[in-house]
Amino acid sequence: MIKYMKGKYKIVTFGCQMNVHESEKAAGLLEEMGYAPTESAEDADVVLFNTCCIRDTAEKRAFGNIGALKSLKRSRSGMLIIVLGCMTEQDGYTELFKSKYPFVDIVLGTRNLSVLRAKIEEKVRAGKRVFDTAVPENFLEADENTPVTRTSYPNAWLNIMYGCNNFCSYCIVPYVRGREVSRDIESILSEAREVVAAGYKEITLLGQNVNSYNGNGVNFAELLQKIDQIEGKFRIRFMTSHPKDFNEEIAAVMAASSKICNGIHLPVQAGSNAVLKSMNRRYTREKYLSLVDMMREKLGEGVGITTDIMVGFPGETDADFNDTMELVRTVRFSNAFTFIYSPRKGTPAASMPQIPYEVKRARIGELIKLQNAITKELSDAYMGKIEEILIEDLSAKYDGSVCGRTESGRLVTVKGEKDLIGSFKTVEITASKSASLFGEILL
Ligand code: SAH
Ligand code: SF4
Ligand code: F3S
Repeated sequence: MIKYMKGKYKIVTFGCQMNVHESEKAAGLLEEMGYAPTESAEDADVVLFNTCCIRDTAEKRAFGNIGALKSLKRSRSGMLIIVLGCMTEQDGYTELFKSKYPFVDIVLGTRNLSVLRAKIEEKVRAGKRVFDTAVPENFLEADENTPVTRTSYPNAWLNIMYGCNNFCSYCIVPYVRGREVSRDIESILSEAREVVAAGYKEITLLGQNVNSYNGNGVNFAELLQKIDQIEGKFRIRFMTSHPKDFNEEIAAVMAASSKICNGIHLPVQAGSNAVLKSMNRRYTREKYLSLVDMMREKLGEGVGITTDIMVGFPGETDADFNDTMELVRTVRFSNAFTFIYSPRKGTPAASMPQIPYEVKRARIGELIKLQNAITKELSDAYMGKIEEILIEDLSAKYDGSVCGRTESGRLVTVKGEKDLIGSFKTVEITASKSASLFGEILL
């Protein structure tokens, strides 16, 4: 090992849970090389940005943060700046980093984290900047051998698949993360056993469309069943589900299990059939509504259903938008992540006729208002209920408090200190404030 690699690293992560977990792998690799974590870029010998490009705002945020290091790098020339993740895989972006970001030393892609060490050594030895987004032939195998420094106790993220085959017409992900590949079932199970043995209390399975998992003929419902059979007290969650592939078999496994949480994130995107078709989502609003009914029948009315909704997709009329509002009123989601459609270069929707920004703004305002009112009503209905929560973290807002989630995914704040993190507690819900619930620990 080269001596001067001993030093400190800082990782800045943008984007989804997939990226959060990949940053844990980058941390594992850097620690294996001898680097230790630091919170401050001023102290760091390596600063790594794990980027996202799902919307223009995500990309601007990443560029802003990278650009902000320019002057620090000038005063500390030995510092390494590394960029990886979805943004780097877009057409022309390697060139962009080469020409416009001369202070960035290494650019990697979404599937070649395993070469991080070799590329740092190459940069340090030869002094030349490194640009490499090529997918290694042994991508899955290399990934299995990547060390992980987990940062989200009591939850352990666990990849079950990579990439996406769906090509929703607005989405950049299939272009930057490639085709869908499922991880070997035995590898998934042994990682799951490992994290449970290490004391993690929740496993969240990750994939762009977990419902289409296919590990040599083993489907997602069967995978869930096998993880459920691992001994110990822990929770199982998964994301993201796609309505075209979510089915009764999966719901039945959820219903029969005490470990699989009674909650699901099922992005609907839009409530209008014309828009869903143009988005290439391959389901109708009727199909979505029937899935919601099926889940409530199999899993009870208490099942937490959350979603993603986009407004301002090309061609979305007032009537289409009203269909979305109507669907939101009908389903009454526990929570909805709402987005303004953002054109992504190279995707089919980017070359469709766009609708004005003011219209998009007005629509998202209306949608958020509606969902907030629903969330508040649902929160109020929790008053007096007894729930088991898994304490996850210190409360960011309230001193002397910690927060945890109900099985259905609702966040509850209770009085308590750090030592409670990772414990299951039975609580009574005593107050509610919009999306937040407050409780008292009973046991
Ligand atoms: N694989 C997941 C989600 C991936 S991206 C799925 O299929 O649901 C997370 C969310 O970002 C999406 O659900 C969508 O609502 C939103 N999103 C994706 N592309 C977008 C774009 N171009 N503009 C605005 N929102 C977008
Ligand atoms: Fe994007 Fe659609 Fe794939 Fe989700 S399923 S990552 S929205 S293309
Ligand atoms: Fe962003 Fe890539 Fe995730 S584009 S949302 S980090 S898959």
